[in-house]
Amino acid sequence: MAGITDSRFLNKVIPYGFNVATLGGYSLDAPTIEASKKIIERGRKEFDFPLDDIFSHIENEVASIKSVHKNVKVSANVRSTTPQPIIEVGNIKDLDIVEINCHCRQEEILAIGCGQEMLKRADLGDFISQVVDDVDCAVSVKIRANVNGIDTLNIAKIIESAGAEYLHIDAMKKGIFDADYELLRNVCNNTNIKVIGNNSINSIENAEKMIDTGVCGFSIARSVISGKLEFNIANF
Ligand SMILES: Cc1cc2nc3c(=O)[nH]c(=O)nc-3n(C[C@H](O)[C@H](O)[C@H](O)COP(=O)(O)O)c2cc1C
Repeated sequence: MAGITDSRFLNKVIPYGFNVATLGGYSLDAPTIEASKKIIERGRKEFDFPLDDIFSHIENEVASIKSVHKNVKVSANVRSTTPQPIIEVGNIKDLDIVEINCHCRQEEILAIGCGQEMLKRADLGDFISQVVDDVDCAVSVKIRANVNGIDTLNIAKIIESAGAEYLHIDAMKKGIFDADYELLRNVCNNTNIKVIGNNSINSIENAEKMIDTGVCGFSIARSVISGKLEFNIANF
């Protein structure tokens, strides 16, 4: 969660049972940093680091988590208009996963072809495979499901063919206040990529429903935003 999930926040919530902690989202190049500034100007939280600080900042954040939670995997969720800055993050010492953000729907990010607009790029597969080929860590791609005009299963296949290890799906569906479990089941049944399901996990029951779709894990955002998780995920 941009502007919220820094190492201090994550070190506090990891003990609730998380085995992966995601830093960010971070903006990594001039266009995305400019877009983040505009988002901040209209009052929304964002991380705001200049180009010459962002990579060392992420490296320090990874070290801050690893120094306390050695066995937790650390991921960094990032936005950039080109693959190169994402590759630079993917080669940060001790970072386990670099996550390409094809999910953000803030209009300033969409206006520069980033976030969920990435799903419309004809070169999405090439973009991802360039990152996969040039980093030492695992690559995850975070997408939003049910984006107008986008076939989520087709996108999942492109991401799998590009060599990403994880497909992180915000299984949001307009008009329902729950995850689109059918969509997750369809992606899991028709691809071999490791799918991480996301959206509306606010109880053990919802976590179980998500695991039943065939995902290999789930992620939680809003239910932990207060710094506490009110249900026990330690047995998954
Ligand atoms: C304040 C806030 C900031 C967010 N920032 C990001 C972000 O930077 N990158 C990202 O991939 N998702 C971001 N998200 C989306 C969440 O990670 C998650 O996909 C979404 O909230 C649905 O999951 P949930 O129902 O568990 O909250 C953000 C969500 C919130 C509420």
